[in-house]
Amino acid sequence: MRAHPAGPRHGDVSTSPAIPIAPIDAVQLGELAAEVWPITAQRSLKGVMHVGGVDVRDLAAEYQTPLFVWDLDYFRSRLAAFATAFADAGPGPTVFYAAKAFLAGLAVREVSAAGLGIDVCTGGELTLALRAGADPANLMFHGNNKSASELTQALDAGVGRFVIDSFEELVRLAALAEDRGVKARVLIRVTVGVEAHTHEFIATAHEDQKFGFSLAGGAAAEAVRRVLGLDSLELVGLHSHIGSQIFDADGFEVAAHRVVELLADVRDEHGVELAELDLGGGMGIAYVSDDDPLQIEDLAGRLRVIVERETASRGLTVPRILVEPGRAIVGPTMVTLYEVGTVKPIDLGGGHSRTYISVDGGMSDNIRTALYDADYTVTLASRAPTVPATLARVVGKHCESGDIVVRDAWLPADVVPSDLLAVAATGAYCRAMASTYNLVPRPAVVAVSAGTTRLVLRRESVDDLLALDVELFPGPDAS
Ligand SMILES: Cc1ncc(COP(=O)(O)O)c(C=O)c1O
Repeated sequence: MRAHPAGPRHGDVSTSPAIPIAPIDAVQLGELAAEVWPITAQRSLKGVMHVGGVDVRDLAAEYQTPLFVWDLDYFRSRLAAFATAFADAGPGPTVFYAAKAFLAGLAVREVSAAGLGIDVCTGGELTLALRAGADPANLMFHGNNKSASELTQALDAGVGRFVIDSFEELVRLAALAEDRGVKARVLIRVTVGVEAHTHEFIATAHEDQKFGFSLAGGAAAEAVRRVLGLDSLELVGLHSHIGSQIFDADGFEVAAHRVVELLADVRDEHGVELAELDLGGGMGIAYVSDDDPLQIEDLAGRLRVIVERETASRGLTVPRILVEPGRAIVGPTMVTLYEVGTVKPIDLGGGHSRTYISVDGGMSDNIRTALYDADYTVTLASRAPTVPATLARVVGKHCESGDIVVRDAWLPADVVPSDLLAVAATGAYCRAMASTYNLVPRPAVVAVSAGTTRLVLRRESVDDLLALDVELFPGPDAS
């Protein structure tokens, strides 16, 4: 297992570097594996890919490429599946959509309409959620360095939960809440010494990372003590987030065991039983056919059993279980459409070759391959594959040799410029992490549903980017 060097928490694991097995024929090459592609993705009789009932060639013509195509019905069904799987008898949501995975006004409205809350972690995400009409009571404010102005904005808006991440924040929030005569509802983020990715997890006694209060070091217990001593803060629960792209419940089990021990200590020391246990996000999805994440209902069932068992063994009342999935809700619901620009066969020697297929986007719209060595599934979308496959590498247009979208893929040997490729499962951490590197404007996002399209985020233009350049456009306050 290799975590991203910038830190394991947001890092995915380098999955198997093995080259995928070659398809047996052009028919298999054109198949859209149900576990990877959105539910409405299918090929027409002529072999052209449609998503949400819309021909990808029409999408490319109307909105240009690269383009994020968002299967809105699939998004709605995943929201509903999470809401149902984690439903309980308590008031308010138990599922908080992690906005960092993908955020737009329409996402906020859809999430809210489905009865979920939203996890935001900056003033920017908070502002968007509020402007799009999210109920502030259903917002959970995360982040390891929330500024006084962000906390003020959140308090003034009436945000329902603050996940406290440091002693400085604890003091800052308490003072700001006191000034306003309000009581902020808080959870304490506990680092439990579990780092989980796919089927692997590591359980350690301590945590070497920036988030939360260490359980083993006693900081978490101290944070509880301090919050309970402050009139302007109301401690509603504990929080733990153990990693990302997790396929099974084993890591959650260890984490839950450790957090429940703290819940029991809090009861024993302070006579308080906390009402909420937030197990964070990190639920995995299939990027390639070999990926086998737990189904949402199975995962919810496993988590419930684990928490009930752990709390029963300590004689505690079962708390409400909250979760914050981002990737597992939005990830599978988008595909990225690219247009091929160049095709370059490279002789690797020993009778091997690889075809470099350059598309009109790259690491600016999908940094995950370069950053995490992420795997993706790609297909020829604008026509049916009719010839045998060749081993290809789909690369972007940026000035980096690491600008790779799909490292190893089997694509028809006759792919040519102007063909459209579609990459699956790009809903999470792609548009959200997009950059304007090389002054490449960020792509549009268009929602598709039952044969109709709806622009969600318009394509950035070069003029949008240049507008920030004071040398070119001196504003009123430029000196
Ligand atoms: C605290 C917290 N909650 C939720 C998430 C969402 O994770 P995912 O999109 O993997 O579900 C993250 C992601 O980094 C996180 O840090």
